[in-house]
Amino acid sequence: MSNVIELKDVWRIYNEGAEEPVYALQGVSISIRHGEYSAIVGTSGSGKSTLMNIIGCLDRPTRGTYMLDGIDIENRSDDELATIRNKTVGFVFQQFNLLGSMSALKNVMLPLVYAGIPGKERKIRAELALKEVGLENRMHHRPNELSGGQQQRVAIARAIVNKPSILLADEPTGALDSTTASEIMDLFGRLVKEGMTVILVTHDPETASRANRIIKVRDGKILEDIAMGTVS
Ligand SMILES: Nc1ncnc2c1ncn2[C@@H]1O[C@H](COP(=O)(O)OP(=O)(O)OP(=O)(O)O)[C@@H](O)[C@H]1O
Ligand SMILES: [Mg+2]
Repeated sequence: MSNVIELKDVWRIYNEGAEEPVYALQGVSISIRHGEYSAIVGTSGSGKSTLMNIIGCLDRPTRGTYMLDGIDIENRSDDELATIRNKTVGFVFQQFNLLGSMSALKNVMLPLVYAGIPGKERKIRAELALKEVGLENRMHHRPNELSGGQQQRVAIARAIVNKPSILLADEPTGALDSTTASEIMDLFGRLVKEGMTVILVTHDPETASRANRIIKVRDGKILEDIAMGTVS
């Protein structure tokens, strides 16, 4: 397996040059291979989301290099970066971030609108993604007519509908009860088996233990990086 993500000595300093700069990442180096399933853990404020934002090209390192799929991010314009991001990365968040006025199907179709996919194909692909997450019977429901776990499934369908190679999830089970959380983790496990690279942030050791690699962050540095064997 080749590396899909390679960070070398990455620093992220917020408010650099101001009176109180924040050293959110301090010399982080990690490589993640295609098809790996990683959990990023660490206390609040340790730099997990900052790291995810850089991996997902929502933000850039202050210093250091980031290669995504062999592309050096530093030399790319913001527009190029957005294109790379839309093609390569799917995002899932703790609060689902669905549009309340739209059905599950419309929510999942949205990234395909931005990608310029024609209407008919949009619907077919969105339906397939919703099927993949087990929601074929809830496609026309709006978010407030769905349970938390179902809403997160819609968000996952939306994240994978463009067929990204990487799925990034920041506390995806943080708003769910443990049974529902476990079902969402089963779904991530299945996506990994199908070849997706999944990276999630979690506070919960049980959730982290479902991944095959645990990356522990403290004070903006990698404290531990443990391989766990096969995915459960
Ligand atoms: N936009 C920003 N401007 C200034 N400081 C920031 C900004 N975003 C994050 N920080 C700071 O950077 C540090 C790392 O924040 P980050 O959000 O990455 O932590 P985290 O590990 O995700 O925490 P949590 O578990 O609470 O989500 C914190 O000290 C935070 O206050
Ligand atoms: Mg965070």
